[in-house]
Amino acid sequence: MSRSIIQTENLRFSYTTPEGVAPVVLDGVSLDIAEGSFVAVLGHNGSGKSTLAKHMNAILLPSGGTVYVDGMDTTDENRLLDIRRTVGMVFQNPDNQIVANVVEEDVAFAPENLGVPPQEIRRRVDDALKAVGMYEFREHAPHLLSGGQKQRVAIAGVIAMEPRCIVLDEPTAMLDPIGRADVLRTIKALNRERGVTVVLITHHMDEAAQADRLIVMAKGRVVADGTPKEVFQQVERLQSVGLTVPQTTQLLWQLRQEGLDVPLDALSDEECALALKHLLS
Ligand SMILES: Nc1ncnc2c1ncn2[C@@H]1O[C@H](COP(=O)(O)OP(=O)(O)O)[C@@H](O)[C@H]1O
Ligand SMILES: [Mg+2]
Repeated sequence: MSRSIIQTENLRFSYTTPEGVAPVVLDGVSLDIAEGSFVAVLGHNGSGKSTLAKHMNAILLPSGGTVYVDGMDTTDENRLLDIRRTVGMVFQNPDNQIVANVVEEDVAFAPENLGVPPQEIRRRVDDALKAVGMYEFREHAPHLLSGGQKQRVAIAGVIAMEPRCIVLDEPTAMLDPIGRADVLRTIKALNRERGVTVVLITHHMDEAAQADRLIVMAKGRVVADGTPKEVFQQVERLQSVGLTVPQTTQLLWQLRQEGLDVPLDALSDEECALALKHLLS
């Protein structure tokens, strides 16, 4: 059992609005994210995913319950810098995350703010740009890059802080299919090759299917939690919270409704094809 890097215990949260009306957005979320794991979070719009993400590096603080980052309580102001160094955040819109006119300066921005010495910054920036496959673009102007390239530069900016965990809030939502694939490949490599813990919030089933663990949120609660295979088999539960399942699972589920003996856990196209071939032979 590996150690946990993020823990939430009965986390509750309400936004304070000018009217003072504060509906509950997170309603008792208890999660344990293991160091080195790749976790996807899926859920309908408004289910509380972004609010949960913002609790993972103390952008928001709980209204009730506790959040620990590497054992540090996020309400402990003395540990705020350590918390922000441990968990980096990547958001949906790369344009809002780019701050400089040259790619390498942009990537250097966060470590400079953390007071990292200059030679060390050079090493980190080069390393981070190589990690996301954008080293050749280091002297380019970020605003001339494609959406996917910009998002990889934004990820490099977070990598340069050398966090142990990266939380990405729908990082591919604004990208074309090629940019989306490049960003996902980058995220997976960070996890597999560098051991960075990844929490990926997404509404793409195919992205969620690639994680080690899939958490489904609805109305501020966790409604399913397991491997993607385990979770996607809960077809009716997912449909009841407004989510669809991958087309492979949907097809197999329909066949089962018709009384055919096919497995529901054939998630990839290849596995699904094999299951159908088996049925016909
Ligand atoms: N800054 C805010 N002030 C008030 N309510 C908010 C704010 N941000 C989000 N909400 C509300 O909190 C709920 C959950 O939002 P969010 O965490 O963004 O969900 P998701 O990321 O799953 O779409 C929604 O009902 C949303 O309207
Ligand atoms: Mg969101």
